Amino acid sequence: MIKGKKVLVTGGAQGLGLALVRSFYRAGAEIAVIDIRDQVFQLSQSIGAEDDKIHPIKGDLSVMESLRHSFNKAIEELGGHIDILINCAGLIQRESAFHFSMESWNRILDVNVTAVFELSRLAAVKMKKQRSGKIINFASILSVIGGYHAAAYSTSKGAIKQLTKSLSNEWAEYGIQVNAIAPGYMLTTMNTDLMKDSVRSTQVAERIPAKRWGTPEDVAGVALFLASPASNYVTGTIIPVDGGVLGR
Ligand SMILES: NC(=O)c1ccc[n+]([C@@H]2O[C@H](COP(=O)([O-])OP(=O)(O)OC[C@H]3O[C@@H](n4cnc5c(N)ncnc54)[C@H](O)[C@@H]3O)[C@@H](O)[C@H]2O)c1
Repeated sequence: MIKGKKVLVTGGAQGLGLALVRSFYRAGAEIAVIDIRDQVFQLSQSIGAEDDKIHPIKGDLSVMESLRHSFNKAIEELGGHIDILINCAGLIQRESAFHFSMESWNRILDVNVTAVFELSRLAAVKMKKQRSGKIINFASILSVIGGYHAAAYSTSKGAIKQLTKSLSNEWAEYGIQVNAIAPGYMLTTMNTDLMKDSVRSTQVAERIPAKRWGTPEDVAGVALFLASPASNYVTGTIIPVDGGVLGR
């Protein structure tokens, strides 16, 4: 169902995005990956993939010119087609609202929201012509709850929840499904500070009904479902992958 599909993943150099690249590669997809990190060039090697199935592109999604250039390069590498767009790149800064710099606020909103909007419509122009396409965004449990010392991040993820619904309404009639995954507490470098603090890390795990942090692999199955024809009548949804946190 995923075999032969042309996929663009942002933020695939590490964390959840890396797990997605690995899973979609194993499912037979050809994948372009946009990331700001040089690590993106080691992707084929680190997942043991054939070079012609993974196309690494280094780009900064907070800069519109770089975003558009990276998108065009991705489409070129994918032979002019895109079936699935996964907007996974994101960043957080944990800081009190009083001390938050406007520079950080703008960068978080640029990467977590504006880039998702622009990439989605660039991809949707192509998907509309082929009358099919899947767009998968990364929301968060902080799309629903406010979090602490994460004003810019939770604002951005709240926006992703609404953007996902809004775009799904516009594009459903063209056979394009737009959905989002809302991960809970996942074991990635985004949470290094929390994980390093053994007291807080244990407190977090205690609050999760599943009693454990999530792993990058936990999101991959849901992403494969949302990318496959099995979800062709599913659009505008936000699926939590959080070990039960939002159900408490
Ligand atoms: N880890 C969690 O607990 C968690 C929870 C909820 C939601 N999420 C969301 O899932 C997604 C992936 O998170 P993760 O934990 O894998 O994070 P991560 O920090 O491990 O990976 C994020 C990736 O995005 C890339 N990126 C950041 N800024 C970029 C830019 N300007 N241009 C291009 N690439 C850029 C990074 O280089 C990195 O490879 C994010 O959208 C995040 O908000 C994560």
